[in-house]
Amino acid sequence: MKKLIIAIDGPSGSGKSTTGKALANRLGYLYIDTGAMYRAVALFLLRNNVSLSDESEITKLLKKIEIDLKGDPYNLQVVLNGENVTDQIRTAQISQSASIVSAINSVRQFLVERQRYLGRDGGVVMDGRDIGTHVFPQAQVKFFLFADLIERARRRNLEEVTRGEHMSLQETLQEIEERDSRDSKREYAPLRPATDSIQLNTSNLSPNQVVDLMMEHIKKRDEAIQLGA
Ligand code: DC
Repeated sequence: MKKLIIAIDGPSGSGKSTTGKALANRLGYLYIDTGAMYRAVALFLLRNNVSLSDESEITKLLKKIEIDLKGDPYNLQVVLNGENVTDQIRTAQISQSASIVSAINSVRQFLVERQRYLGRDGGVVMDGRDIGTHVFPQAQVKFFLFADLIERARRRNLEEVTRGEHMSLQETLQEIEERDSRDSKREYAPLRPATDSIQLNTSNLSPNQVVDLMMEHIKKRDEAIQLGA
């Protein structure tokens, strides 16, 4: 199979990272979680007591941020300036802060450049909000996942509770509703399906079922590419 670029976009809790990891694992591809990169920027800013509305200070500080993603899909480590911050970036506070800083154009430019570099050779599954529309509009396969709000909140809440965060289902639901709204209404590269994306409703599907469906689409696309389509 040719080394494709596979984009997976969608709102929080739609199943991007669960299916993205499994897909990358099946294909022997690199998995890149771009949300983790926005989260790492948010963590850096919070630790340095920078106001998330101070765009000019944030823009200046970007030079001091280095983010690396290391390891295989099921053991992806997020490294911020040499420190492993994989667990620290998963809190509800960082989720909201990442969504806020992701609306700042300089932050997006900084991370998009890094994302394009990481995916430059193909053989990559990249998940986020703007991968198919903006980071890699030329990606050979684009998925846009969605699911009912309550189902997405259930999935996210289960993850939070498992990590020991005490969030009620209602709080999680409100948190993802706010983020969905901010992520889809922002000016730069808002969350929306690429016109040529394959849209999958994951509400009533298991992760394996979603990955099976994705594999069917990828095989068809790969055959078409081999035939020169
Ligand atoms: O996928 P996630 O929940 O880890 O992402 C955290 C936030 O980062 C999300 O609310 C919006 C932002 N984000 C983005 O704007 N563009 C991306 N490609 C990935 C994430």
